[in-house]
Amino acid sequence: MSEAIYAELKDNPAYVRRTERARQNKALSRSTPMGSVAAARSLGGSRSEMAAELLAEDDLAVGHFGTVYYKPATVAGIALQLEPLQPSIGTAVHGLDLAEHLDLDDPDPNAELVVFLRALWLQRRVLAFRGQDHLSREQMVQFARHFGEVGAQYGERKHMPNSPHVLGHQIKVPGIPDMLLLPSDEAAPSAASGWHADATWQQRPPMASMLMCREAPPIGGDTCFCDCYGMWEGLPLETKQRVAALTAVHVGGLGHQMDSKTPTAVHPVPRTHPETGRTTLYVQQGFVRKFADEHDVPEDEARKLLLQMKFQEGRPEYTCRLRWAPGTIALWDNRAVLHTASADFWPHRRTMERLTILDFDEARRTPYYAPSGETAE
Ligand SMILES: [Fe+2]
Repeated sequence: MSEAIYAELKDNPAYVRRTERARQNKALSRSTPMGSVAAARSLGGSRSEMAAELLAEDDLAVGHFGTVYYKPATVAGIALQLEPLQPSIGTAVHGLDLAEHLDLDDPDPNAELVVFLRALWLQRRVLAFRGQDHLSREQMVQFARHFGEVGAQYGERKHMPNSPHVLGHQIKVPGIPDMLLLPSDEAAPSAASGWHADATWQQRPPMASMLMCREAPPIGGDTCFCDCYGMWEGLPLETKQRVAALTAVHVGGLGHQMDSKTPTAVHPVPRTHPETGRTTLYVQQGFVRKFADEHDVPEDEARKLLLQMKFQEGRPEYTCRLRWAPGTIALWDNRAVLHTASADFWPHRRTMERLTILDFDEARRTPYYAPSGETAE
């Protein structure tokens, strides 16, 4: 499957443009994490020399070591092993074959299992399922439908980016236009490096995202997740009080443009999770540019507040790190975690497929803050 993706990329104008440095045998730009990691690892030289050096260094054998702690659980007669990735967030669910146990072709799936997985997902924010590479893309869509409405590539259907700057949405997936392909290879390395929640520049950002790894580097390319409940809890009390009534402006990137317009949305700074009723910090510096003008926050104070919030991003205590392998699926709650790819795997290939999931309940899609925890009207 991955070979076909990269064969198709050869004629993709955006891919051809982005491989210009590779054609000139120029090293990766050190202003990107991928380039700085490669420079730090390598003795230097031309791009091809650096790639050869790193590939030789990463010529790894496969081994299985260590002890794993997990919580056993039996659900719908299936023995599961629940492996926490970190104390507060992230669980790898072992023991499931999603195609078999959720009977993905059956419109009436195993309700007990779905209810269990949703409760676990709300509690742990991130679920991972290993060894699911046998799932077709159609089956991924069917699995995602157990959790919500499968959205367009960036969530709500009215926003379809048509910018020439990003490859992902320009690669057509036959029969599945909602799927976003995220390819990265030696010539055009790519990784969403930087803490963000997906498409918060939408008025009604997606509830969840699902990633399937089809091709993993032997080392690197992990995705890290950061708990937004912890980020809110960790702010000083006076900051919480100061920002409680503020909203912030979320601005999309070049690649999210539609008809040359950059999408923008204004959302509350603290957000009430519409299912748990708990408060998250809904500011991530990937897309948030400023507090809304109507609040008239003085420039110095705004800078200080945003910096305080930025320091919450990626604190080790709030994060978990997911190591990918072909067939690993991750499902995360965009309302409760930030995520970032680790752009450290060049010159290896990493090929991912993403689906975006909207809440079944349309009334819960627009972010809001209700300090007492009551739900949206
Ligand atoms: Fe993302």
